[in-house]
Formats: sequence, C-alpha cells, structure tokens
Amino acid sequence: MQLKLTLLALSALGASIANAAAVDPRLLYMGWFYTGVPAQCPIATPERFIFGLGSDSPACRNFYNNVTYGAINVEYWIPQCLLTVHNTLDCSDPGIVSGTGGCWSPPGGIKAYTATCPWKNW
Ligand SMILES: *[C@@H]1O[C@H](CO)[C@@H](O)[C@H](O)[C@H]1NC(C)=O
Repeated sequence: MQLKLTLLALSALGASIANAAAVDPRLLYMGWFYTGVPAQCPIATPERFIFGLGSDSPACRNFYNNVTYGAINVEYWIPQCLLTVHNTLDCSDPGIVSGTGGCWSPPGGIKAYTATCPWKNW
C-alpha cells in the first residue's frame, strides 16, 4: 500500500513536470549542460547535468571522482543565473562564465564550477 501510494505520487509528479516543461521549462529549471572528457566538439559521449531553480549556491562544485571535463555545451541557462567553470578543484582560479548554445573547450579543462544567480528575482 505504501509502495503503491509512492508510485502514484511519483507518477503524478512526473506528469506535472512533463506538462510544465512543455509549457515553459524556465519555471522549473535553472538550466542544464552537457560535458565530455575529451576537449573536442561536438561531444561524443555527453554527460548531462540538470539544475532546478533554487539550487544556486556560491559553493564550488566538483564532478564525481574529480574528473576533468574538456568540453561543455550549456544547452539552457536562465538569464538571471551564471554558470562559471573553473580549472582548479577549489575554484581558486578566476573562472570563466560560460555562454549558452554551443560546445566549447575552456583552457585547462573544467574541474569545478559554480551556479549562482546574481540577478535572481524569485
Ligand atoms: C577530489 O579532490 C579533493 C581535493 O583535492 C580530495 O580531497 C578528494 O579526495 C578527491 N576525491 C577523489 C575521489 O579523488
């Protein structure tokens, strides 16, 4: 019974996310990007990272096993927020703000990033 209720709740949630995403993804997402280990475009085996609205933070974020990515393609990013990529694990380098809509290879690779919203109005 517990499981059935959970499944029902999950499918209801899934349906509402699917609906909202079809109408306007910006209502729910800060953005998403794809990365690849080789510094080459297009990205042959992309890994996707998705961020919900509200998951912004000044914290320096690394990837699983501290992997360094060579290429990134920011597919969508809400204009009120910035994705800044770093070539150090602790974000001690100045970083580069990534634009959207194209694959590129930051010098030194991407070891860490921040997702911040300096112009947040929600
Ligand atoms: C990732 O890098 C940090 C900082 O150098 C280190 O403390 C941690 O052990 C590393 N993790 C892995 C899985 O290598």
